[in-house]
Amino acid sequence: MSHYRIAVFASGEGSNFQNLVNASANGALGGAKVELLVCDKPEAPVVKRARDAGIKVHLFTPKSYTSREEYEHEIVTQLESLDIQLVVLAGYMRLLTSVIVDRYAGRLINIHPSLLPAFPGTNAIGQAMEYGVKMTGATVHLVDGGMDTGPVIAQRSVEINVDDTLKSLTKAIHDIEEKLYPQVVSWFAQGQIVIEGRHITRIDPNK
Ligand code: GRF
Repeated sequence: MSHYRIAVFASGEGSNFQNLVNASANGALGGAKVELLVCDKPEAPVVKRARDAGIKVHLFTPKSYTSREEYEHEIVTQLESLDIQLVVLAGYMRLLTSVIVDRYAGRLINIHPSLLPAFPGTNAIGQAMEYGVKMTGATVHLVDGGMDTGPVIAQRSVEINVDDTLKSLTKAIHDIEEKLYPQVVSWFAQGQIVIEGRHITRIDPNK
C-alpha cells in the first residue's frame, strides 16, 4: 500500500523533525512518511538529522532570490514532484506567501509554542513568562497568510511554576510537542480531520 507523503519545513534544531521521523519508523504516524526536508539555513542542525535519516533535503538561501515568491515556486515544484500530501512546518522561521499557502490550503500545518491566540510570533515562551500567565502550552494550527493566525487543530497545556526558567519551560513545551505533533499528523494521514471554516474537528474512528 502506498503511504501518506509529508514534507517538513524547518530552520533550526529540528527536534520536531526528528520526532516525526522517529514516529514514522515506529508506526506512530498513521502510515505517513517524511519524504522531504525544506530548509532555508544550510548550517542548521536539522540538515544533518535529515541526511543521517536518508531523507531528501531541499536547501535554499533566501538572499540569492529577488522575492519570496521566486523561491517558493521552486519549493512547490519539488513538493509536486514528490506528490506531497501534507506540508508540516516545524520551526520554519519564515512567513509563507500565497504561492504555498493557496496551493496547500487545508494541508499545511504549523506547531507554535503557546496557547494561541496568546503570544504569536517569535519568542513565544519568553513572552508567556514575561507576561506572568500561569498556563501556556503548544498549538497545532492550519497555516493561513498571517503570523500564527490560522484555525486551531489541537492544543495541550503546561503549567508555569514559580521556579520555572526559560530553559525548564522550553523543555516542558518540547515534551508535549513531541507527542502532539505526530498525533496530529497521524490524524491527517488517516483522513480523520474535518475542516469547516475556523472549526476543525477530528473524527475518532473508535467512537
Ligand atoms: C518549536 O518549539 C516549535 O513550537 C516552534 O519552533 C520550535 C522548533 O524547535 N515553531 P525544533 O527545531 O523542532 O527543535
